[in-house]
Amino acid sequence: MSAEHLQIGLLGFGTVGRGVYRILTGNGESVKQKIGAGVTIKKILVRNMDKDRGIDVGPAKFTTRVEDIIDDPEISIVVEVMGGTEPTLDYVSRALQNGKSVVTANKDMIAAHGKQLFELSEANNADLLFEASVAGGIPIIRPLKQCLAANRISQVIGIINGTTNYMLTKMTEEGSDFDDVLREAQAKGYAEADPTADIEGYDAARKLAILASIAFNSRIGLDDVYVEGITRITAADIAYAKELNYTIKLLGIAKETADGIEARVHPTLIPHHHPLAAVNDVYNAIFVTGDAVGDTMFYGQGAGELPTASAVTADIMDAARDLLRSVPGIISCTCYEEKPVKDMGATLCKYYIRLNVADRPGVLASIAYAFGDKEVSLASVLQKQTDTKNAEIVLVTHLVREQNMQEALEIIKHLSSVNEVSNIIRVEGE
Ligand SMILES: NC(=O)c1ccc[n+]([C@@H]2O[C@H](COP(=O)([O-])OP(=O)(O)OC[C@H]3O[C@@H](n4cnc5c(N)ncnc54)[C@H](OP(=O)(O)O)[C@@H]3O)[C@@H](O)[C@H]2O)c1
Repeated sequence: MSAEHLQIGLLGFGTVGRGVYRILTGNGESVKQKIGAGVTIKKILVRNMDKDRGIDVGPAKFTTRVEDIIDDPEISIVVEVMGGTEPTLDYVSRALQNGKSVVTANKDMIAAHGKQLFELSEANNADLLFEASVAGGIPIIRPLKQCLAANRISQVIGIINGTTNYMLTKMTEEGSDFDDVLREAQAKGYAEADPTADIEGYDAARKLAILASIAFNSRIGLDDVYVEGITRITAADIAYAKELNYTIKLLGIAKETADGIEARVHPTLIPHHHPLAAVNDVYNAIFVTGDAVGDTMFYGQGAGELPTASAVTADIMDAARDLLRSVPGIISCTCYEEKPVKDMGATLCKYYIRLNVADRPGVLASIAYAFGDKEVSLASVLQKQTDTKNAEIVLVTHLVREQNMQEALEIIKHLSSVNEVSNIIRVEGE
């Protein structure tokens, strides 16, 4: 590394890798001014050397041998934008062992293997930066670790999956059904051919595990996150929510409470006036509450070539600054505590419940009795006739323990007058 110049290697040249190349070449002069040194991409690892990448980089930069990057003494920063954990974890571990700073956009790897990678980064005095791994272009990791470091964070609530936010926005605006909206999202490239990770909430759960670990300085693993996706949300739920002045969003919710950390991803009714209710389409937002700063919200594009590359390139610049000052690896893992994770059954929530029932006298009374018996008190009730014999009842509860709610529903499910518990959705943000 010369004082005026840093060489970096990219692992991967897909959507994000190309974006990094474009920013570093397009904004190279301002990058140089800001960090005090130029940054050049020396080598790029790909699988297929012959692929047309729609961008003229010159064939000499590409390689299929990872050693050309992670073992090259002239390369000081390795930028991992290939994704997955296999063989990525091995490549990144070897780069850190060789003392290279690593920038990654890989939520899967950080959520599942963050601890071991941080240990390697500390042992080898190398930075490990991962701003783009949560909410793409939105600055959130660095604000939590640095700008809000003086706060005790009480909650982080985020719309952190663009695909499902797009789908729920369409369902809300157009009254469309889940399956139609999914097909449309796939046609537009917003949802993958196999949409499981998005619609079942797993993608959001990985990001929430990362956010919660940073916010509460205690490692939250994927297994600590309760996950429910959006596949059961129907046009009827959206319409009832609207009537009750709520919007349905897939939220990642992490809270620090007196009896432990809550980490959950599930569809949620939030009041129309809540700032997250206005976050639509593929946009992401993260609402953070700190004891000193109060409420804050970070909003922007959670994916895409240039937004994601914006976060990756800023990390490259930070890693470069640390190298130029000879302080890489100083700010690394911030999980210095071990806090208990709260059992889902012990969480307190309000609930929206939609029931299909026989339309006859006394039905509501028997349902109210079952709820009352489990200390579930009701805040509002809507009743709609569906045909001559049946009706739909929509209830919203006051705050109740999850376990009490599940026990009450178990009884209600078996009442002769109840045809079906059609849906249960948690309510937040009031
Ligand atoms: N795309 C987004 O908007 C976005 C947003 C936030 C975070 N991220 C994260 O950023 C990372 C990259 O995403 P992406 O969308 O840019 O992926 P992508 O378009 O699929 O590109 C992956 C690149 O990695 C290369 N690659 C994959 N496996 C490889 C292997 N075993 N050996 C060598 N090269 C390999 C591919 O080479 P070939 O080109 O030769 O196939 C390709 O160039 C992922 O971790 C993703 O979760 C992406």
